[in-house]
Amino acid sequence: MAEPLRLGVAGLGTVGMSVVRMLRGHADALAAQLGRSVQVVAVSAREKGRDRGLPLDGVSWHADPVALAGGDGIDVFVELIGGATGVARESVRAALSAGKAVVTANKALLAAEGVALARLAERHDGQLAFEAAVGGGIPIIKTLREALAGNRLSRLYGILNGTCNFILTRMEEGEPYGAALQEAQRLGYAEADPSFDVDGLDTAHKLAILTSVAFGTEIARDAVFVEGISGVEPEDLVAAEELGYRIKLLGVAQRTDSGIEQRVHPAMVPRDCDIARVAGVTNAVAVEGNFIGSLMLSGPGAGGDATASAVVGDIIDLARGVKVPPLGRPAASLEPYRQARMQTHEGGYYVRLKVRDRPGAFAAIARRMADAGISLDSIVQRNRPFGSAPRHETGLAQPVTIVTHATTEQAVRGALKTIEAEGEIFGKPRMIRIEAL
Ligand SMILES: NC(=O)c1ccc[n+]([C@@H]2O[C@H](COP(=O)([O-])OP(=O)(O)OC[C@H]3O[C@@H](n4cnc5c(N)ncnc54)[C@H](OP(=O)(O)O)[C@@H]3O)[C@@H](O)[C@H]2O)c1
Repeated sequence: MAEPLRLGVAGLGTVGMSVVRMLRGHADALAAQLGRSVQVVAVSAREKGRDRGLPLDGVSWHADPVALAGGDGIDVFVELIGGATGVARESVRAALSAGKAVVTANKALLAAEGVALARLAERHDGQLAFEAAVGGGIPIIKTLREALAGNRLSRLYGILNGTCNFILTRMEEGEPYGAALQEAQRLGYAEADPSFDVDGLDTAHKLAILTSVAFGTEIARDAVFVEGISGVEPEDLVAAEELGYRIKLLGVAQRTDSGIEQRVHPAMVPRDCDIARVAGVTNAVAVEGNFIGSLMLSGPGAGGDATASAVVGDIIDLARGVKVPPLGRPAASLEPYRQARMQTHEGGYYVRLKVRDRPGAFAAIARRMADAGISLDSIVQRNRPFGSAPRHETGLAQPVTIVTHATTEQAVRGALKTIEAEGEIFGKPRMIRIEAL
């Protein structure tokens, strides 16, 4: 049997302990499969004395993960601490600088400096594997980088945050946003401070990584257009249902004539398409390529065991000697990211307005849309008053929903700005993009 593969695991939390448990539970099967054993020889976490549900006898303890990462006793450094800065970053850099292989689930770090880390790995003949950083247990990185590598991809889109999908699914069932968020927190799906999830930033990090691997470009986290789900109201879900759509928080990366769009926002998707049926905390990523056509992977996007499944998959690749460039091509041949401006985004739009109930208001709104060159698919004055209308507006505000044919973001924003300025509506117009699928 070949030499054992020696692992140093830094971070023994939700994911770290699931990784240790999986490697222990499958030790014999893995050794038979790989012709060598995989051993956790060293660990690091903050609190040595904490009961972690598994004995760690015989495993060396390191208070400093950076020293563990760069030390001689391990072949692979498994970083499961998290965060784009601090010891997670320093320890990954130390391991790569020492020519080690690194396995990480750290999307924040990859989104912030994945290209620099890939370069560091190449320079020192190390390796960097991060399947678990996007989509938890869904093997989307390997699918894009290896299985679909022969395709020219045109678009990928996905539900990349289980918390948001859970909230939107509960809202579809009639719960208001606040109650759905509280339920997500009670079930442990959402953090006490949920802003990173519900504001779309977590999805943006994952999307930036996927864009790079799918399109061969440098990671451009700060070029992602981001809009979260907190503005989605129950009446939007009701309207979506009536129009034949569901609302999902999508991360979309798409080639256009002017560059690559990266956008995260609530989107209306046709109710009968695969991604519309992805409910609760499940994640999904769909890819469109010139030879594959379209394909979708869905599954558990988070949780200790699902994420450990991806981490251990990467470890197995390393034990087999599989070597691939982290982002699918040598870092030097990644293309600079060419950003398509959001203003040039083309698609259909759903718009919801609280229109003042006075003669001509309705016609004025239709006229402003026409002036901006926007062709309307429907404009509907709804009977139900919006529940959120303030008391003084009751009886004065007519709820109106508009669905446009394909147009540009610039045209819709321009028209809505004019309508708002002319005082025909109460409050801010609400718009949700319609994703053509
Ligand atoms: N949880 C998920 O479902 C999930 C899914 C996909 C990706 N991820 C990613 O996986 C990584 C780990 O997430 P997690 O949920 O497992 O986090 P977690 O439960 O909070 O665990 C973090 C671990 O890091 C340790 N740690 C923190 N600061 C440290 C330091 N200065 N030195 C040494 N150890 C330190 C903690 O030690 P103590 O235990 O002693 O406090 C803890 O064991 C993150 O990058 C996260 O984004 C998580």
